[in-house]
Amino acid sequence: MFMNFRRIHKCQCVQLLTTGLVLCVVMVCWEELDHHVVSHMKSYTYRYLVNSYDFLNSSFAITTNDQQRKNGPNSLNGLVNYPYVINHPDKCGGVGGDGRSLHDVLLLLFVKSSPENFERRQAIRDTWGNESFVWSELGESVRMVFALGVHPDVGRRSRVQSALLEEDKTYGDLIQQNFLDTFHNLTTKLIMQFHWGHNYCSRAHFFMSADDDIFVHMPNLVKYLREVLSSQSGAKDLWVGHVHRGAPPIRRKESKYHVPYDLYPWPSYPDYTAGAGYVVSGDVATKIYHATLALNSSMYIDDVFMGICAKAMGVSPQEHVYFSGEGKAPYHPCIYDHMITSHGHATDVRSLWQAATDPAVHSHSRGFIGKLYCTAVKVMLLCRPYYQNTYSCMAAFT
Ligand SMILES: *[C@@H]1O[C@H](CO)[C@@H](O)[C@H](O)[C@H]1NC(C)=O
Ligand SMILES: *[C@@H]1O[C@H](CO)[C@@H](O)[C@H](O)[C@H]1NC(C)=O
Ligand SMILES: *[C@@H]1O[C@H](CO)[C@@H](O)[C@H](O)[C@H]1NC(C)=O
Ligand SMILES: *[C@@H]1O[C@H](CO)[C@@H](O)[C@H](O)[C@H]1NC(C)=O
Repeated sequence: MFMNFRRIHKCQCVQLLTTGLVLCVVMVCWEELDHHVVSHMKSYTYRYLVNSYDFLNSSFAITTNDQQRKNGPNSLNGLVNYPYVINHPDKCGGVGGDGRSLHDVLLLLFVKSSPENFERRQAIRDTWGNESFVWSELGESVRMVFALGVHPDVGRRSRVQSALLEEDKTYGDLIQQNFLDTFHNLTTKLIMQFHWGHNYCSRAHFFMSADDDIFVHMPNLVKYLREVLSSQSGAKDLWVGHVHRGAPPIRRKESKYHVPYDLYPWPSYPDYTAGAGYVVSGDVATKIYHATLALNSSMYIDDVFMGICAKAMGVSPQEHVYFSGEGKAPYHPCIYDHMITSHGHATDVRSLWQAATDPAVHSHSRGFIGKLYCTAVKVMLLCRPYYQNTYSCMAAFT
C-alpha cells in the first residue's frame, strides 16, 4: 500500500494528541466514568458472556450445620423465622358473603408499606387497592394486603403499633411480622410475602408485590392478567415487570444500594424486575418460596434477592413496557390507556386514579385517527434523547 510520509507523520501526531486528551479526561473523570460507564460495561460484558450465573446456587446455598438443624422449623436461612404480630389467615380463603370463593382469586397483591405510612395506605384502599371496585366493576376477585415490620424507633413503636392495631380493626388488611421495618430488612419482608402467600393463598392465579408509593392501573392490569390466563400457556412460568438486565452492584459506600464485595463479589447481578411493582404466576411464587428456604438471604436488596431466587429455580423475568421502574409515567390519557404501574405517587394517587380510570380515556385512542394521534403523543412523551427510567420508547408503538 502506498502512503505519503508526511501524511503518516500528521496522522500519528493527531493520534497521539487524541490519545493524550482521552487519557487526561479519563484520569480527571475516573470516578464518574467508573461508576457510570466502566462498571456497566463490565457488567454487560459479564451478563452477555457468562449468562448463566450457575455459581449463584452453590454460593448462596445455606450450609446447614447441626446447630441450625436442631433449631428446627423456626430456623430460616440460619436466622429466625419472625412470628406474626398481625395476621389474617382467612383473608384469601373461605366463601365471602358476596360469593367470592378461594378458587377464584385472580391476584394476591402485597403492598410493601412502613408502619408510619397511614396516609399512603388509605389512599391505596380508596383507589387502586379497592377490592370491591375490582369485584363490582371488573368481575374479578383480588386480595390486597399490606406487608409490614415493626417501627424501628423504640420510642415511637408502641404509639405507632396501637394506631396500626386500630387501623387493622377497621380494614383487616395488615400483615405484620416482628422484625424491624428498615431498608436493610426488605429481603425479610419479601420472604414474609412469599411465605404468607404459600401458607394462606396458594391458589391465587397471580401474585404481585408493589411499593406503597406506586400507582397501579387496576383495570389495565386485570385485563392483562385475564389475557395471560386465557393464553395458550396460561398462568405459568410468568415473572413480569420492568426488567434490569446486567445491572452492576453499586460499590460506592455513600449509596443506599451499596453492596460490599464479600456479600456479592461478581460484577453483575442476575436479571431482575424493579421491586416497585412486579407480578408472578402462582407456580413461580411457589418456586420462589422454596428458593427462600434453600438460599442465604443476606443479600438485602430485595429485588436482587428475588433475582437470585428466580435464577436458582430457572425462572427468567419478562419485560412489559408499561411496568415502570423508578420513573413516573407522563400524565396523559394516551398513556392511561395502557399504563400498568407508575412509580413516585405518594401524594397524587387519588387524582391520578380519577383521571386514569375515567371511561372517556379510551375515546382518545379510538379509530385510526385516534391511534395515530396517540402514537404521536406517546412518541413525543417517551422517545426523548436523554435517559429516563419510565416507559421506554418502544411503549409508544404498542
Ligand atoms: C450467608 O452469607 C453471609 C455473607 O456472605 C455469611 O456471613 C453467613 O454466614 C451466611 N449464612 C448462612 C446461613 O449460610
Ligand atoms: C370501592 O369501590 C366500591 C365499588 O365501586 C365503592 O362503592 C366504594 O365506595 C369504594 N370504596 C372506597 C373506600 O372508595
Ligand atoms: C432486621 O430485623 C431484626 C429483627 O427485628 C433486627 O434484629 C435487625 O437489626 C434488623 N436489621 C436491620 C438491618 O435493620
Ligand atoms: C439450583 O438449585 C435448584 C434447587 O435446588 C435446582 O432446581 C436448580 O436446577 C439448580 N440450578 C443450577 C443451575 O444448578
